[in-house]
Amino acid sequence: MSQAVSKLNHSEQAEQAHERIVHIRKTNYVAKMLKQNPFELLRILHVGLTTFHYRYIRRCVGAGTIVGRWVQIVNANNVKIGQNCLFQDGVYMRAGNQGWITIGDRAAFNSYTKLFAHGGIEVGEEVQIGPGSLITTTDHDYYDENLQTVFKKVTIGKRAWLGANVTVLPGVTIGEYSVIGAGAVVNKDIPPRSIAVGVPAKVIKSL
Ligand SMILES: CC(C)(COP(=O)(O)OP(=O)(O)OC[C@H]1O[C@@H](n2cnc3c(N)ncnc32)[C@H](O)[C@@H]1OP(=O)(O)O)[C@@H](O)C(=O)NCCC(=O)NCCS
Repeated sequence: MSQAVSKLNHSEQAEQAHERIVHIRKTNYVAKMLKQNPFELLRILHVGLTTFHYRYIRRCVGAGTIVGRWVQIVNANNVKIGQNCLFQDGVYMRAGNQGWITIGDRAAFNSYTKLFAHGGIEVGEEVQIGPGSLITTTDHDYYDENLQTVFKKVTIGKRAWLGANVTVLPGVTIGEYSVIGAGAVVNKDIPPRSIAVGVPAKVIKSL
């Protein structure tokens, strides 16, 4: 029992030490950047304000998550974002009144990524999404006179990496650890640990 407790303490201590190292690295990085270009301070302040807004006022992002400038999270009540994620400038997320978005810890969204989540979007831990990518959950019934909307959930598995300008269509599941090449349009499920490229995306390799 006491051995188990001591093991737990060791792993907790290791985790705390790791967090301290990460913190020091981040501080050193910011100090170096400010020395090279003091105007970067304005950008950092803007990022700080946006992060504060979504963490403490809208309460939809976890501890350690950084929210870049001009990020917009619409229907933030239906959005739950984990810890230590990164949202670069201009990411746009719309959950819709009935939709939802959940994002796991340590996920990263590059600039100007767009998520339209009326049918629900689930993003796993450590997912990386390239700049300009778009995930949509909305289809329209083209036989219907009014182009009735049809919503279908999208799932992006843990540690998947989507390159720049990838489009993910409604109902798609991208498997864990998969890679989607830049510019792909994903209209069908991609199995875990696959590399898929092109329009429409086809698997070219397994990992
Ligand atoms: C998908 C990717 C990771 C594959 O890299 P790779 O394993 O080194 O693949 P290769 O370069 O050997 O290419 C294999 C084949 O796929 C094709 N291919 C690679 N990437 C492609 C893409 N994005 N779209 C269409 N075809 C692609 C290649 O032309 C090649 O075809 P061929 O065998 O007929 O010549 C890479 O090409 C890619 O798209 N990276 C994304 C980079 C990016 O968007 N960065 C932004 C920051 S997140």
